[in-house]
Amino acid sequence: MSASVGLRVGVAGCGYWGSKHVRALRALDSVETVTVIDPSPDRHTALERHFPGLGRAAQLTEALPDIDALVIATPPSTHARLALEAIAAGKHVLVEKPLATTAADARAMVDAAQAQGVVLMVGHTFEYHSAVWSLRDMVRKGVLGRLYYLHTARLNLGLYQHDVNVIFDLAPHDISILNYVLGGEPTAVECWASRHAHKRLEDVAYLRLYYEDPDVVANVHVSWLDPCKVRRVTMVGSEKMVVFDDLAADERVRVHDKGVAQTQTEGDLTQPPMSYRYGDVVAPYLVVNEPLSLEDEHFVDCALTGMRPTTDGQNGLAVVEVLEAAQLSSQLRRAVQLSEVREGALPPAETAIPRQTVPTAIERVR
Ligand SMILES: NC(=O)c1ccc[n+]([C@@H]2O[C@H](COP(=O)([O-])OP(=O)(O)OC[C@H]3O[C@@H](n4cnc5c(N)ncnc54)[C@H](O)[C@@H]3O)[C@@H](O)[C@H]2O)c1
Repeated sequence: MSASVGLRVGVAGCGYWGSKHVRALRALDSVETVTVIDPSPDRHTALERHFPGLGRAAQLTEALPDIDALVIATPPSTHARLALEAIAAGKHVLVEKPLATTAADARAMVDAAQAQGVVLMVGHTFEYHSAVWSLRDMVRKGVLGRLYYLHTARLNLGLYQHDVNVIFDLAPHDISILNYVLGGEPTAVECWASRHAHKRLEDVAYLRLYYEDPDVVANVHVSWLDPCKVRRVTMVGSEKMVVFDDLAADERVRVHDKGVAQTQTEGDLTQPPMSYRYGDVVAPYLVVNEPLSLEDEHFVDCALTGMRPTTDGQNGLAVVEVLEAAQLSSQLRRAVQLSEVREGALPPAETAIPRQTVPTAIERVR
């Protein structure tokens, strides 16, 4: 439940996703004012038409005196700089995924928020999705039996980004879902990424994430270069299999009572090697909510009460570490341990943006 004192919230970046934050925040009684921060006058004009009375600023610095909290929905390469500026001014911050484009920047954000005593939250929207809650519930209760493997696919034709590749754009969703559902982080990552239609940005990538507890492998396929739009998470266990299809009109989660077992006739080539079990398909009831609205309400509650967000800065950092490990794995052509990323044992990942044109947030604040 939201507290009763109103919060003044700024939204930096009011393009496709930021404008949805504006809508969600405006609907909250606990939000007193919403200020739109975007250098593009067209964005302001478009939003003002739908939501009259919004505050308006071209740059974050201009808006800081009028806000208590900030939602950052700008291109990923700008997240760390804007967040560090807002945190230094004592503002609570919700940063869209990915929290940052390097683990070093993400760590600097976590440390800065802790030092300032402000809330740092990451917009891992799927952790506010009732379908994802139901997947986690099934894993916790052992409904699927022994987990064999997980597979996610997030494919479409586009949308190509300006500043990050498909790994940093789309895989944050899948990594945050997997970490949430499995209740931990992978210990190692392998990644194969390739550039096809874009000269500098990888547009197709396959990631393999190795989890230890539970001991399971998750495969993640992300693509901006696919004829079909797919948004799917599949979990295969010894007893049941479950599919979360985020594009399905209804019954987005379906639990298949299906399985296979090895027959006792090994070596007998006249018999099939496996027996197959086909049972019911059940679609569990899912609470109807809008994940983004829930996420924004949670952020506002945390900012007003000092409560720790469920998707806090540490949660965002954990995902960025996997992204960086994936990027390094694809460059080094070997599996990368998460400990190598955490201990800084490897050279920095080559980001798609030349470092001389976009310095890291740490370089910028020095
Ligand atoms: N959680 C989700 O499901 C989800 C979905 C889509 C996008 N996103 C994330 O939201 C962010 C924005 O994505 P988008 O698709 O809305 O991008 P977009 O290009 O549509 O919008 C970005 C906006 O940021 C503005 N901007 C750029 N630099 C700025 C600055 N320094 N200060 C203020 N404004 C600035 C631009 O003018 C533009 O209006 C990205 O981090 C993306 O990964 C999250």
